[in-house]
Amino acid sequence: MKKIIAILLLYAIFAVGAQGQNQQPHLAKQGTATQLIVDGKPFLILGGELGNSTASALAKLDTIFSALHQAELNTVLVPAYWELIEPAEGKFDFTYIDAAINKARTYDLKVVILWFGAWKNSMSCYAPLWIKENYKKYPRTVTKAGQPQEILTAFSANNLEADKRAFVALMEHIHNIDAAGHTVIMMQVENEIGMIPDARDYCKDADKLFNSAVPKKFIDYLISHKSTLHPQLLNRWESNGLRTNGIWTEIFGEGLETDELFTAWNYGVFVEEIVKAGKKTYSLPVYLNAALNSRGRKPGAYPSGGPLAHLLDVWRAAAPSVDFIAPDIYDTGFAEWCALYHTAGNPLFIPEIKFSDTNAAKVFYAFGEHDAMGFSPFSIEDISNPQEYPLTKSYYVLSQLLPLLTAAQGKGNTCGFWFDDTNKERTVTLGNYRLIGRHVYTYGWSPQSTDGSPFPEVGALVIKLSDNEFLVAGTGVAITFANALDNGFVTGIASIDKVQFEDGKMIPICRMNGDQSHQGRHLRIEAGEWNIQYIKLYNYK
Ligand code: DGJ
Repeated sequence: MKKIIAILLLYAIFAVGAQGQNQQPHLAKQGTATQLIVDGKPFLILGGELGNSTASALAKLDTIFSALHQAELNTVLVPAYWELIEPAEGKFDFTYIDAAINKARTYDLKVVILWFGAWKNSMSCYAPLWIKENYKKYPRTVTKAGQPQEILTAFSANNLEADKRAFVALMEHIHNIDAAGHTVIMMQVENEIGMIPDARDYCKDADKLFNSAVPKKFIDYLISHKSTLHPQLLNRWESNGLRTNGIWTEIFGEGLETDELFTAWNYGVFVEEIVKAGKKTYSLPVYLNAALNSRGRKPGAYPSGGPLAHLLDVWRAAAPSVDFIAPDIYDTGFAEWCALYHTAGNPLFIPEIKFSDTNAAKVFYAFGEHDAMGFSPFSIEDISNPQEYPLTKSYYVLSQLLPLLTAAQGKGNTCGFWFDDTNKERTVTLGNYRLIGRHVYTYGWSPQSTDGSPFPEVGALVIKLSDNEFLVAGTGVAITFANALDNGFVTGIASIDKVQFEDGKMIPICRMNGDQSHQGRHLRIEAGEWNIQYIKLYNYK
């Protein structure tokens, strides 16, 4: 009997494993987190995005992908150029896609494909010439002043059909060559959609719709999601009387903000058709990336109506097939942007962040504090010395922790710290403990604490393993642990070990005590060092 049970158990494990291998990449919820599941397991993207033109430089791909592999990336974000995929109407050529996928396989990388279709950074520069030249059939947006632009209008069935047909052909091709291998794990549709220089399109069809009733589908969404609407949207709707019928200005009032809502809705309707058709062909997760509305700019000065945090409701209502929206972070305010996009069921994925050594610190915060799905500096091929690159060291540490980190996501069992010249200390409660994280240069023994030199960016994440056990990984952060329960006990450090993980097994490398733990007062990872430390706590009276 025991033997039969053992055989059945083995069979079940094998069947589940094999099933996982065959599963298409998809999204799944774990607690409050949304995870990307690849080959049956949660996957975190330790990524980088290629510069815009790099994927067409075929002769360079091998060197670049090899460097990305050495830099500990597990995923590369690669553009798919409409103009090269469909150089003549209806004639498709996937040379560049095949080259990128093959190279990725050679270097054990996964791929996220970016569809540079109708829109790239608002513009339509990647539309094939046969589209650009036939501007009567494939019309443009028009400014308020009546000037046509190098931007395909969203108010044209021909534009939609052309973009959709090409995207579906791309998805069909990816399905044919990759459905069994799962090198391609996710799709980005278009790139940084948004209207410029005005907040909305003024072509004839746009004007007509702007002066027509707000679609019922949007009104229904507003009514059914009233309690969770973004405050900005709710406020416009409320201050105009919570009307449930009327034209855009009647329901939301006059102004750029209403123009932007109209723009977001119509981009959303267009994109929904493309994503829906693409997913029908090959159902990979799909996200949209956003050029951010930074520095107090108004809609139109930034790309109006893009997949921005304050427009999440509009995008969800208009384009329910899009799985989530994602920020391209080129500005200051990293922590604030992360918080804005990790909200109301929208997972944080950073498909682009300015190429900088400081990403080596930021990445720990994104994964630890915000259950991020992935992190991806732009123009990643600019890494000159992959082994020495700071982000490589962070990715090396994170790649060891992926199983533990993904197991902890969405359950409130992790937190992140990120410090710079202005933010040097932060207190967080995790489980039964109050953690005070500090920039290591704040300690008196660091010359930088008093000599006026700038503090480099540093960061760390913490994973709670059990009530009294934690892992800390990162660079340049010290953490003290105090009892957060009001029970009269004082917390002490039982032990700290520097560790590494091999095949998921924790291996101690060095006992960290004495000077390395400030004589038992804290856990510390020096600036310029990257490691993982395992701490056990105890409590006394
Ligand atoms: C954001 C865009 O999404 C990228 O494709 C690229 O154009 C960068 N900006 C350039 O900084």
